[in-house]
Amino acid sequence: MGFITSLTRMWLTRTAKPFTFKNEYDQMLPFAECESLGLYVHIPFCKRICNFCPYCKVLYSAESCDRYIDHLIREIHIVGSQHKGRKKVTSLYFGGGTPALAAERIKEIIDALNEHFIITEGIGLELHPDNVNVKVLRQLKDAGVTKISIGIQSFCDKYRKILGRRDIDTEEMKAALSAVPFETVSMDFIFALPGQTYDDLRSDIDQAFSSGANHVAIYPFIDFTFTESPVGAMPKREKRELMDAITQYYLDRGYSRGSIWTFSSEQNAGYSSMTRENFIGFGCSAASLFKEQFKINTFDVDSYCERIRSGSLATSLTIRFTKRQRMVYWLFWTAYSTRVDPNDFQRFFGVPLEEMYGFELWAAKRLGFIKEHDGIYEMTLKGAFYYHYYENYYTLSYIDKMWGIMRKEAFPEQIVL
Ligand SMILES: C[S@@+](CC[C@H](N)C(=O)[O-])C[C@H]1O[C@@H](n2cnc3c(N)ncnc32)[C@H](O)[C@@H]1O
Ligand code: SF4
Repeated sequence: MGFITSLTRMWLTRTAKPFTFKNEYDQMLPFAECESLGLYVHIPFCKRICNFCPYCKVLYSAESCDRYIDHLIREIHIVGSQHKGRKKVTSLYFGGGTPALAAERIKEIIDALNEHFIITEGIGLELHPDNVNVKVLRQLKDAGVTKISIGIQSFCDKYRKILGRRDIDTEEMKAALSAVPFETVSMDFIFALPGQTYDDLRSDIDQAFSSGANHVAIYPFIDFTFTESPVGAMPKREKRELMDAITQYYLDRGYSRGSIWTFSSEQNAGYSSMTRENFIGFGCSAASLFKEQFKINTFDVDSYCERIRSGSLATSLTIRFTKRQRMVYWLFWTAYSTRVDPNDFQRFFGVPLEEMYGFELWAAKRLGFIKEHDGIYEMTLKGAFYYHYYENYYTLSYIDKMWGIMRKEAFPEQIVL
């Protein structure tokens, strides 16, 4: 598969040039001209560290979290003041780690962002189930948060134990969610765990919808090489059967599929920090994507604070894209929503999609991966599975390698993927 991934990359980018991330960066970020720009803020603290989790996170203490947020606010002003006036952006998402642990200071962070940006499509934030109580939810809502995402993983004891997660107080959670409503209440599950059946997964999703969620994300378990989880990945065929059956079940009942792994029970419920054409990321490990470059901040909290204190950005690595590399990147993340609108591609790149990738679209149609509907390319169930399969592989061969290095070295010299 490694060989096939490299060949596919070379074919789609029309060059043998790999993706090269270098230890260099621009202090001035090119976001002024970006039309569709999202914001992301990373808060890396957790009360307990889960052994399966690949994200940049450290153990919580009130002092280290406070110190980190002071630097985060400074970074927001360093970047935000590069643009005169307030720049219109789509959404703002807080991810982690467990951003809800900093609930008392979320308003301060949003206020700092509001000085430089106008957020038009709402604010999302991640919580651990332990954080779901009336006090925290009120603090978040008063700060301006409109969407929340709760990391349930599974309501079923057996699978939570496999993942090393503690019991969930479902009654307190339900009561808090009905006392403090949000536009989107999303719940995250990890599926394709050893022995997990269709009924197990369906019961998890049904319980989410009956406990106050109007949006559910199911992530197939990924066994990152640098994590210490003893859990193995489910074989491909079993995973496909599970994913297809669950998708069909929820589509038949009128739920909509907003992206490869999400279902919602209400039209306006959505939660996705990933499908943005451009974004600025603040905080350690946060990535930023612009028209011609992608950059990622250091994973090391102390190095992050040190850089920001000196007035510099905490960028660890930057890749400067060729035009084709950027097109592949755009297509890959847009396809995550299961639909690609050729007009969006043409608006972004100034050339028709069919002119750049006509053969690939024809082949994807012939293979039954996509269907054309009113000029928009929509993924079939088969296409969604293979996209997922390829994305899983990409995660394991690209993201796994990059994050594996970045969690050990604050500023690696270069990473070639
Ligand atoms: C930052 S956490 C969510 C908030 C909070 N920290 C929590 O765990 O409840 C983001 C989500 O990534 C997913 N995740 C973490 N590790 C994963 C893995 N190895 N494979 C698949 N999904 C994973 C989980 O569903 C998790 O809820
Ligand atoms: S899964 Fe959530 S709580 Fe667990 S370590 Fe990762 S970010 Fe922290």
